[in-house]
Amino acid sequence: MTLLTVDGVTLQYRSGPRLVTATERVSFSVERSDRFVILGPSGCGKSTLLKAVAGFLRPTEGRILLDGTAVTAPGPDRIVVFQEFDQLLPWKTVEQNVVFALTATGKLPRRDAHRRAMHVLEKVKLTDFANSFPHTLSGGMKQRVAIARAMAMEPQILLMDEPFAALDAMTRGGMQEELLQLWDDTRFTVLFVTHSIAEAIRVGTRILLLSPHPGRVKAEVASNGGDEMDAGGRLLSARIHDLLFGGTTWGPSPDRPDSSVGPVLSDGPAAKDHRDA
Ligand SMILES: Nc1ncnc2c1ncn2[C@@H]1O[C@H](COP(=O)(O)OP(=O)(O)OP(=O)(O)O)[C@@H](O)[C@H]1O
Ligand SMILES: [Mg+2]
Repeated sequence: MTLLTVDGVTLQYRSGPRLVTATERVSFSVERSDRFVILGPSGCGKSTLLKAVAGFLRPTEGRILLDGTAVTAPGPDRIVVFQEFDQLLPWKTVEQNVVFALTATGKLPRRDAHRRAMHVLEKVKLTDFANSFPHTLSGGMKQRVAIARAMAMEPQILLMDEPFAALDAMTRGGMQEELLQLWDDTRFTVLFVTHSIAEAIRVGTRILLLSPHPGRVKAEVASNGGDEMDAGGRLLSARIHDLLFGGTTWGPSPDRPDSSVGPVLSDGPAAKDHRDA
C-alpha cells in the first residue's frame, strides 16, 4: 500500500534575483516497509527532496502526499535523521534526549516516555550510555541515539539524510547492518538519501536514481542487499553507475528562470526495473 507519493515535484530556491532549481518534476512512490533510497551526485537535490517530504519546503510544482493527505508542514509522522553529529541536545543525557522528543511533542506522558526511551536505546545497544551526555559519545554512538530517538517517535516514515556519511568506513558498515537489524524487528518505512552506490545497494530495497543538478528521475532499480550480477553478467553497481552517468552528455546545467522548468532530457524518467526485493 502506498504510503508516500511524490508526484511531479519541482523544488526551487530563490537566491536574490536567481531561482535555483534543485529538482525537476520528480515522481516516485514509497510503499509501507520499503527501504527506499534516493541516490544521486552531490547537488542533485536529495536533501532538498527530503526537506520537502519533511514539510520544511513547499514544491513549486507537483504534490507530496503522505497516506493520501497533502504534506504542508512538518509533523511527528515524518522524523528526519541528519548527517551531522550535533543533532542532539547537548545539555540533556542520551535518555533525556529521547524522552524530551516524546514528551515535548505530546507523544507520550513522562513515565511511558522513559520506558519507551530505554526500550529503543536497548535496540541500538546504548543502554549503558543512557545517562551519558552527547559530548562523551563517538560520532557513531551519537547517530545511534538520533536513530533511537527518531524510532521512539514511531513516525510513519523515517527520513534519513546521509546519516552515516561522516563516519569512518568500518563504523559506517556496522551502522548499515544495525539499521537493517532494526528494520527486521519492526519493518518501519524508511526514505534514505545517499550518494554512495554501495550504501544504496546495501541499505535499499528500492533505489531511485537522480540525474546531476537539477535532479530528475533517471531510473528506479531494486536491490536485495548485495551487489549481484544480472543475467548479462553485470554487477548491479556497474548498472547503476551507467544509468547515472553513462550514455548521456550532461552539459553544465545553469539554473533556469521560473518559466523554463520544462522538458526533461530525452532519456526520461523511471525506466522501472523490477520489484522483487
Ligand atoms: N538554502 C538554499 N538556497 C539556495 N540554494 C540551495 C539551498 N540549499 C540547496 N541549494 C541548492 O540546491 C541544489 C540541491 O542541493 P541539495 O543540498 O538538495 O543537494 P544534495 O543532493 O543533497 O547534495 P549533497 O550530496 O552534496 O548533500 C544545489 O544546487 C544547491 O546549491
Ligand atoms: Mg545533501
